[in-house]
Amino acid sequence: MATQNNAALPEGLELGGYRIVKKIAVGGFSIVYHATDQNGQDVAIKEYLPIALAKRGEGQLMPTVMPEHTELFRLGMKFFFDEGRALAALTHPNVVRVLNFFRANETVYMVMGYERGRSLQEHIERRKHKGVKPLVSERSIRIAFAQVMDTLREVHTHKLLHLDLKPANIYLRGDGTPILLDFGAARQTLHTDLSTLHPMYTPGYAAPELHAKRELGPWTDVYSIGASIFCCMLGLPPQSAIERKRDDHMETYFHELERLYSKELIALVRWSLTLDPLKRPQSVYALQKMMRPTELSAATSTQIANDSSVPQAKDTSNPSSLLSRFRRQGR
Ligand SMILES: Nc1ncnc2c1ncn2[C@@H]1O[C@H](COP(=O)(O)OP(=O)(O)O)[C@@H](O)[C@H]1O
Ligand SMILES: [Mg+2]
Repeated sequence: MATQNNAALPEGLELGGYRIVKKIAVGGFSIVYHATDQNGQDVAIKEYLPIALAKRGEGQLMPTVMPEHTELFRLGMKFFFDEGRALAALTHPNVVRVLNFFRANETVYMVMGYERGRSLQEHIERRKHKGVKPLVSERSIRIAFAQVMDTLREVHTHKLLHLDLKPANIYLRGDGTPILLDFGAARQTLHTDLSTLHPMYTPGYAAPELHAKRELGPWTDVYSIGASIFCCMLGLPPQSAIERKRDDHMETYFHELERLYSKELIALVRWSLTLDPLKRPQSVYALQKMMRPTELSAATSTQIANDSSVPQAKDTSNPSSLLSRFRRQGR
């Protein structure tokens, strides 16, 4: 299978009433652009373009879908709509805001509020590069993840699971507020059909039940929260669940981390990362109860921003309900 990235749309291109400023990121399933709307407001546009199924060369706008992949390309497009629909149904200050959705170039585009900042992954990498210890302070972890957990509870209340939580999908605004991105793997819990679930889960952050055909639930995202906190502490993801089943070294890491973090926080991570889904906290609420109530309130969420200079945030998104549009177009 080809590994070369697809060509991004050219800067300055007008598309669906937006103007492309530049490409932000290229992933296996999509390309994300910084763009502006008709009022000159900044937006982010995510273009559905799975590299394994469709190719686009320099200077082209339309991708070419390999004939043998037409069906899968359409199924993936449905998942992409699902992501948009899931996000549009959720209006939460810590979930990326979906503003619009349109079809063009024989594919689909999701328009989001443009967030300024950087991903938690980038934040960890920078601190690792500087050799800072502890990598992310316990106080920062507690503040940021208290908000991540609150947000995730809201997501679960809507009968959705994120299923791809990891530092690369947790974005930090300039003031350190975390925003959940990338609901590409999100599914309506009640309608989960494992046989059609295709996203590439990230080893280390994915609970073992994502690899086996076992029931998924809030506990599946709880595993990924534990894995993401672990990465903030060590700078690396945990061993993959598959590897852990063969030869589990996690206890060695936990002992090492006891020099830098409280036993209580390590216990929370250890419990979240339990391989048996039934022995794990069953809900985010169960996990929150274990986080010691501290004097730290969300109002002091400047801690991560203070850890280093995250660019300042500017929220440009407008609230809008797009569910009817998704229902019309997502067929
Ligand atoms: N709304 C947004 N505002 C600013 N940057 C964004 C936004 N959405 C995505 N990005 C950037 O694009 C990257 C990839 O987006 P993501 O939704 O995670 O797609 P992928 O499925 O390719 O992982 C993010 O890590 C972030 O840097
Ligand atoms: Mg992502």
